Amino acid sequence: MNAKVVEQSRTITTELVLPNDTNPHGTMFGGSLLSVMDKCASICARRHAGRVSVTAAIDSVEFHEPLRLGDVLRVEAWVNRAFTSSMEIEVLVSSEDMHSRELKQANRAFFTFVAIDRNGRPVAVPALRPETKEEERRYTQAGMRREIRLYLSGRLKLKDAPLVREDLIATLQSRNL
Ligand SMILES: CC(C)(COP(=O)(O)OP(=O)(O)OC[C@H]1O[C@@H](n2cnc3c(N)ncnc32)[C@H](O)[C@@H]1OP(=O)(O)O)[C@@H](O)C(=O)NCCC(=O)NCCS
Repeated sequence: MNAKVVEQSRTITTELVLPNDTNPHGTMFGGSLLSVMDKCASICARRHAGRVSVTAAIDSVEFHEPLRLGDVLRVEAWVNRAFTSSMEIEVLVSSEDMHSRELKQANRAFFTFVAIDRNGRPVAVPALRPETKEEERRYTQAGMRREIRLYLSGRLKLKDAPLVREDLIATLQSRNL
């Protein structure tokens, strides 16, 4: 399978915050926002994998700014790294000022998508080939995040997490966790 580059699957969508998406204060529900992000990430994963991919995990979800009724959202998703059947997709949400067209970052999260076959079983995806220094940085960090994520979900033992093992042990010990 030929490796792919980030630009082959980068996905940008635009959304409008409607009354159904908001609470009585007129700000957007976190769950509605996650739904919008999940859809954008899903298209990105599908573009990279070339087949249906499902959400396996979402982490590091950060809500920086409240989003309000009538806000226009720019949702951008790109692949940080592909592993065997899984891909880490980073999703960034910004609200767009309709007059100045300025963007204000509102939310960020990392999605793990897994490509599946007709029977729902994981299948291999193309590797990702970073092209810029920034993409290389994201690629390296995605490898470390994967070890942390799989360790926290009980899918990986510390001894099998060479990239973050020492840091994790030091952190856990220093905080008595
Ligand atoms: C995602 C799914 C296909 C994985 O199936 P599985 O039998 O656990 O598969 P495996 O153990 O072989 O893992 C396959 C890949 O998924 C990754 N994965 C599985 N669970 C994960 C988790 N919780 N976090 C991160 N990655 C995970 C594995 O690391 C592996 O990646 P790799 O192939 O790149 O090394 C399966 O759990 C599933 O279908 N889940 C439901 C998906 C869904 O419905 N999503 C929508 C939510 S409503």
